[in-house]
Amino acid sequence: SHTGSFKDLGMTVLVSMVHQMRCEGQDIPAIVCASTGDTSAALAAYGAAARIPVIVLLPKDKISVSQLIQPIANGALTLSIRTDFDGCMRLVRELVQKENVYLANSMNSLRIEGQKTVAIEMVQQFDWTVPDWIIIPGGNLGNVTALGKGFLEMQQMGIIDRVPGIAVAQAANANPLYNSYVKDFQSFEAVAAKDTLASAIRIGDPVSWERAIRVMRQFDGVVEEATENELADASARADRTGLFTCPHTGVALAALEKLLARRVITPDSRVVVVSTAHGLKFPEVKVKYHQDQLRDYDVAPARANHPVEVGADFDQVRGAVFDSLEAAFATSAGVG
Ligand SMILES: Cc1ncc(COP(=O)(O)O)c(C=O)c1O
Repeated sequence: SHTGSFKDLGMTVLVSMVHQMRCEGQDIPAIVCASTGDTSAALAAYGAAARIPVIVLLPKDKISVSQLIQPIANGALTLSIRTDFDGCMRLVRELVQKENVYLANSMNSLRIEGQKTVAIEMVQQFDWTVPDWIIIPGGNLGNVTALGKGFLEMQQMGIIDRVPGIAVAQAANANPLYNSYVKDFQSFEAVAAKDTLASAIRIGDPVSWERAIRVMRQFDGVVEEATENELADASARADRTGLFTCPHTGVALAALEKLLARRVITPDSRVVVVSTAHGLKFPEVKVKYHQDQLRDYDVAPARANHPVEVGADFDQVRGAVFDSLEAAFATSAGVG
């Protein structure tokens, strides 16, 4: 992904279409979106490449520094608004209703058309077979809508003969779909999203909730939630295998662990966990985790790792190496 998250898949389609519309003479002076930081990065990048003015509405102090600098670097009008994502979304809706600017949020089906290709890529990578389960972090719920659409269309075309189970993973601090799931999707209520390390899914009033619930019903889907400690720990655990996961991927991995424990997913299942962004976009969370500075989020880091500072001296370096090797040996041998 060019801008470090799955948002590129839908945005390249949307911006290409707007570019074509402008070439055909349509009056579209600018494209606009509200964002928790990843949609705005994708829109700013593709808009810059197509030379189309971009406006992004971001919740002030609620996105990472990397996410903020992306649209700034790409030359977008970057509005840092003293509200949360849901507040930005309300302002964007009003802006597109009253002014001649083009909407790039996922209510625009061009985004869904681009994002549905994730289903095709997945099946292609499994040699045209279908995984048993897909776990996907959910915020505004456009991505799960797109995933479902991709699988249903492949089934209709006879490319696959069954669909996978879908599990949406939400942060417990921003969990309106989870609340609806525990009531069998009989009702849906927006929540006031609380602060979460998974800041890109800090969304209490998702625009695509109706479409997402339709998908969940069609796929007999489940929703699981993860606390801050669960998501941070799952992310750190995955990193120990050589990955560098973002907190949202941590939410999905924590959901996997919980669904396995509940035996909703069995150990012999083939499961895809959708990693929605690169961990490098969220260095603040990683640094604070390893420095044990996430106590405000009730995170007790089980896998914190620290740099060892030593002088430029052979004996000090050798000492540090052997201390570390001995500690590792003691742990693996079960002594000490
Ligand atoms: C990194 C990341 N993961 C997950 C999501 C959730 O996707 P959606 O809003 O389509 O549910 C988003 C965006 O909101 C995101 O930026």
